[in-house]
Amino acid sequence: MENTSIHILAIESSCDDTSAAVLKNFKRLSNVVATQKIHEAYGGVVPELASRAHQQNIVPVVDQALKVAALKASDIDAIAFTRGPGLMGSLLVGTSFAKSLAMGLDIPLIEVNHMQGHVLAHFIESPEQPSKTPPSFPFIALTISGGHTQLILVKDFFDMEVLGETLDDAVGEAFDKSAKILGFPYPGGPLIDRFAQEGNPNAFDFPIPKVKDLNFSFSGLKTSILYFIQRETAKNSSFIEENKADICASIQGTIVKILMQKVKKAVAQTGVKEIAIGGGVSANSGIREALATASKKYGWTVHIPAFEYCTDNAAMIGVVGYLKYLVNDFTNQKVTAKARYLIK
Ligand code: KG4
Ligand code: ZN
Repeated sequence: MENTSIHILAIESSCDDTSAAVLKNFKRLSNVVATQKIHEAYGGVVPELASRAHQQNIVPVVDQALKVAALKASDIDAIAFTRGPGLMGSLLVGTSFAKSLAMGLDIPLIEVNHMQGHVLAHFIESPEQPSKTPPSFPFIALTISGGHTQLILVKDFFDMEVLGETLDDAVGEAFDKSAKILGFPYPGGPLIDRFAQEGNPNAFDFPIPKVKDLNFSFSGLKTSILYFIQRETAKNSSFIEENKADICASIQGTIVKILMQKVKKAVAQTGVKEIAIGGGVSANSGIREALATASKKYGWTVHIPAFEYCTDNAAMIGVVGYLKYLVNDFTNQKVTAKARYLIK
């Protein structure tokens, strides 16, 4: 499969990270990410500002990715880009840039589904982790981030079946919205995780939603946390400050329970015990601990990519690009961005 060296330049701009990467086959030569700080002031991603920042960042980020890889644009064999899903204004920047560059260099253009990128990020060969083994097929992928919550049965590189997804908020949003209720700055997920380490997850009870099949729902949890905090702070204005660790541990514990319940159900339904997680929320210590416990208890094999490949990044788009290159799966100059783009 890897007799020749193929260099892919990959571009990711689906949300609020502008990223470019260069891969030599599965190997990451560079992976540059410009994270847009501007959204912090607004408590969430502002689409209009995101597209503007992508426009500012894209040329320097691509330039840097080539420099770090020590390659020239003329060394690149194909350009891969995120076609969707994501914010339309953000996707348009990466899509238009990729199309123009591919045309200018007269090389093939490869369109990539961002969610396939998250799943196949496990196959990036990283110089920092040379002996890391990727998941073997079939495996169950759990993609958890600020924008996504999806359980996917991965039978092969391009044979994926969505088993379930969120019906409302993504799990990262559940963390961030809960954090906002507690008065934490955006994004509050990592702060909840930090305070939770000192707290008791059973201190407060939040309801586990009853959602059919392998789908998720997090909006009810957010509402119950809001009412709970309103009720308690009306009685004691220092309630949050005095119980911060326990509140955070209880919120995190509930979210982890919701996720684990569905992963267990997916394992039971498919008989597959190979689990691969991805997305920014895979940094969460509660979910990591729960998966480690389950792997011992139930004999699961759990894969967690390096954090750099969990959050949005172009290296994961490059891996999909490389795999598509091998089967001549190219697109053309008529391709357009797709805000809603399902995994087939
Ligand atoms: O993948 P990501 O960087 O961006 C996208 O959403 O695409 O994920 C960011 C999300 C945010 O919601 C953030 O609060 C959450 O991941 N997050 C965490 C942790 N680290 C990041 N949530 C809980 N615990 C963490 N340690
Ligand atoms: Zn993502």
